[in-house]
Amino acid sequence: MRTQVVIVGGGPSGLLLGQLLHKRGIDAVVLERKTRDYVLGRIRAGVLETGLVALMEQAGVADRLHREGFVHDGTQVAFNGEMFHVDFKKLTGTPVIVYGQTELTRDLYDAREASGAPIEFEVDDVVIHDADTESPYVTYRLHGQDKRIDCDFVAGCDGFHGVSRQTIPLTVRREYEKTYPFGWLGVLSETPPVHDELIYSNSERGFALCSMRNDHLSRYYIQCALSDSPEDWTDDAFWQELKRRLPEAVADRLITGPSIEKSIAPLRSFVTEPMRWGRLFLCGDAAHIVPPTGAKGLNTAASDVQYLLTGLCQWYEDGDSDGLDRYSEKALLRIWKAERFSWWFSSLLHRYPDQSEFDLKMQQSDIAFLRDNEAQQRAFAENYVGLPY
Ligand code: APR
Ligand code: PHB
Repeated sequence: MRTQVVIVGGGPSGLLLGQLLHKRGIDAVVLERKTRDYVLGRIRAGVLETGLVALMEQAGVADRLHREGFVHDGTQVAFNGEMFHVDFKKLTGTPVIVYGQTELTRDLYDAREASGAPIEFEVDDVVIHDADTESPYVTYRLHGQDKRIDCDFVAGCDGFHGVSRQTIPLTVRREYEKTYPFGWLGVLSETPPVHDELIYSNSERGFALCSMRNDHLSRYYIQCALSDSPEDWTDDAFWQELKRRLPEAVADRLITGPSIEKSIAPLRSFVTEPMRWGRLFLCGDAAHIVPPTGAKGLNTAASDVQYLLTGLCQWYEDGDSDGLDRYSEKALLRIWKAERFSWWFSSLLHRYPDQSEFDLKMQQSDIAFLRDNEAQQRAFAENYVGLPY
């Protein structure tokens, strides 16, 4: 079999790239290790920058997102028992859209199925061959049968644990990593959100976040120890702890209910360089991870997809390799800025086990500066709504 682009990984990066290529008449095959239901079972952040929304529009899959997503003109930051508002719309002219990543992924799967473009689920043993030549190919096993696809390019969209990044030799690849000494315990509950905006809370008991999926579905998080497991936390214990980390007026309004999902995620910052090796291009979590504070994971994947799409279209439509040649450099320039923002926003809001009294004072004055200084709020808002592509 032969195609133009093999896309390894059918998460949001691979599906969005596949759909955009399809719209431009470029053939691609998506190879996904899991089933569709498994991928849709993963719960991830749900804040979309306008750049990602524009890509969804371009891919022809933004109708439901516009119908059901919530437009948020700003966010709330809680600190010292009080709360202040950062007005994205006023400061940058741009809101964000709150729409679950699961829903966005579902829309992309539906569109791919409707278009009849090929996607293979439950593939095993994906190996990328000859990526440093002009004739790469990918082999895999599907239901016990060996398969091979020859192609022009491979897009490595297979997430942090995928094979694409590992294909780049260690003599070429450089990795940068920071792990954080805590995790996030997340709960999904069929209760109305406590506020019409997200609340990011710095409290002396640790970080908390109030988010939402729709009018009847809320998503809450609290900072927890890495050694905790979800079974250690009854629903009651979770709600009590969440309330303690929110300003009283908010805690009093919080409607609690049984959790329908409860999980713990570690926090990590990670970047691999370069993001291209020959005809292999890494996209999304395959190349970089951010801690979830600020919800940049999906949005950084989207800017990679945009740069790669531009490069591939230039190649196929004009025979010009400039976009592909500059892919890694351009993608990384934006990625590192999102890494910086996510790292900074995480350090602003969490309690660190080794935090000294001085560190605490620095953190508090950093938040007070954000509260009181419009230039700082604008810089925050520009990062939150998404830096330009
Ligand atoms: N072969 C085929 N598919 C693979 C392989 C493999 N060897 N390894 C992993 N995959 C699949 C995974 O099953 C997953 O569905 O690749 C997909 C990668 O998806 P994500 O991990 O979601 O990464 P990405 O599409 O880049 O999405 C970025 O979504 O998952 C969030 O935190 C992430 O918010 C970020 C954004
Ligand atoms: C979420 O809704 O899951 C969410 C929102 C904002 C974040 C992180 C997660 O910063």
